Amino acid sequence: MEILVVGSGGREHAICWALSKSKHKPKLFCAPGNAGISALAEPVDIMADDIPGLVDWVKANTPDLVVIGPEIPLALGLTDELTKEGVLVFGPTKDGAQMEASKDFTKQLLLSSLVPTARAATFTDPVKAQLYLKKQTVPIVIKADGLAAGKGVTVCETLAQAQLAVEEAMEKKVFGDAGTKVVIEEFLEGEEASILAFCDGETVVPMVSAQDHKRVFDGDQGPNTGGMGAYSPAPVVTPEMNEYILEKILKPTVTALKKRGIVYKGVLYAGLMITPQGPKVIEYNCRFGDPETQVVLPRLKTDFVDICLAVAKGQLDRIKIEWDERPTACVVMASGGYPGSYQKGKTIEGLEEAAKLPNTYVFHSGTAQQGGQVVSTGGRVLCITGMGENIAKALETVYAGVKAIQFDGCHYRKDIGWRALNR
Ligand code: AMP
Ligand code: GLY
Repeated sequence: MEILVVGSGGREHAICWALSKSKHKPKLFCAPGNAGISALAEPVDIMADDIPGLVDWVKANTPDLVVIGPEIPLALGLTDELTKEGVLVFGPTKDGAQMEASKDFTKQLLLSSLVPTARAATFTDPVKAQLYLKKQTVPIVIKADGLAAGKGVTVCETLAQAQLAVEEAMEKKVFGDAGTKVVIEEFLEGEEASILAFCDGETVVPMVSAQDHKRVFDGDQGPNTGGMGAYSPAPVVTPEMNEYILEKILKPTVTALKKRGIVYKGVLYAGLMITPQGPKVIEYNCRFGDPETQVVLPRLKTDFVDICLAVAKGQLDRIKIEWDERPTACVVMASGGYPGSYQKGKTIEGLEEAAKLPNTYVFHSGTAQQGGQVVSTGGRVLCITGMGENIAKALETVYAGVKAIQFDGCHYRKDIGWRALNR
């Protein structure tokens, strides 16, 4: 069996690793991949957003399955194009990817199906948006409607900040076309958690919960990043809450998608705020999270190829998905300067030593091979995952792995999992 994975980050490394353990012993390809992924999958020199290039490769190589990691190819309709070629695809169609690519689309879908979420109003006219803002209380959240590489959301403490955020998105177009439409949303108080779910268009099966750490510095300080670390499970999500999330959030969402003619196949990722009134949806993503995948997939006990095939074929009801009880945690090692403009091309030492440590997984995010060495190429460079009998042990393991690795300018958070430890 041959499988193409699309993407090049820590998430895709974890996806390739989980696929590689399958009893099907698949031959893996990854477009474009990275230095870590190339140990598991043959690199394909096509970028993840090059839709015609990927379609041509698939036509020529006819893999049995394509697993799409990032949101951009999904939003550009890669699944639609590959499905036309008769290929099995793990990842939603362009219509389904609107769950992430349009905050307004998702908001309307949630409100129409009574899924708990923040109150919100959508604007295309900046004058009307500013008039509306004057009648709101703060804090308030301003969201560019479209994809903005995770930067389109501004949580505003004052009215002046909110007015500026609206002006920047709608008039100064700092997020390009993504800010033509803006969603102004009620601020939700609480602790955040991510629930990723497998979905085959009909059946939805939640994975174990996770919590990521978006701010760059310890104590949740500093600017937002793609994610600096994560752990699973998130104890804020109780077993009763899991049931509520499945019945009142995930299932009604899939039903609402079906009503709109969308057969959603892939991962439905719910970003939740656990408020005093219960879990509410902050956002949906149309893919695995990064770095949530790096803590969730190491806990998966069921054959991942079987799951991906079942999702793509609409047969998810036929398999039972099982998880390791032991918690996991991961720490992202980032380049000097990240999330601002960052250093590249730094030689990474200690990768082999770290990978030999027990219960430790070294996932590459932004790396490349250069003259027999592994060098940094991205803002997020590595993601180290550890597993343990409890969250404290998992964190001990992960930080031992982190300490074994060095590169110039590297920084990482030293307090991953603090909320879970404080409980
Ligand atoms: P997103 O890009 O949609 O994940 O949003 C980025 C971050 O903004 C989230 O992880 C939350 O911390 C915060 N956020 C988004 N929407 C809200 C909201 N309605 N209330 C409070 N915080 C929010
Ligand atoms: N870790 C957040 C995301 O993948 O969107």
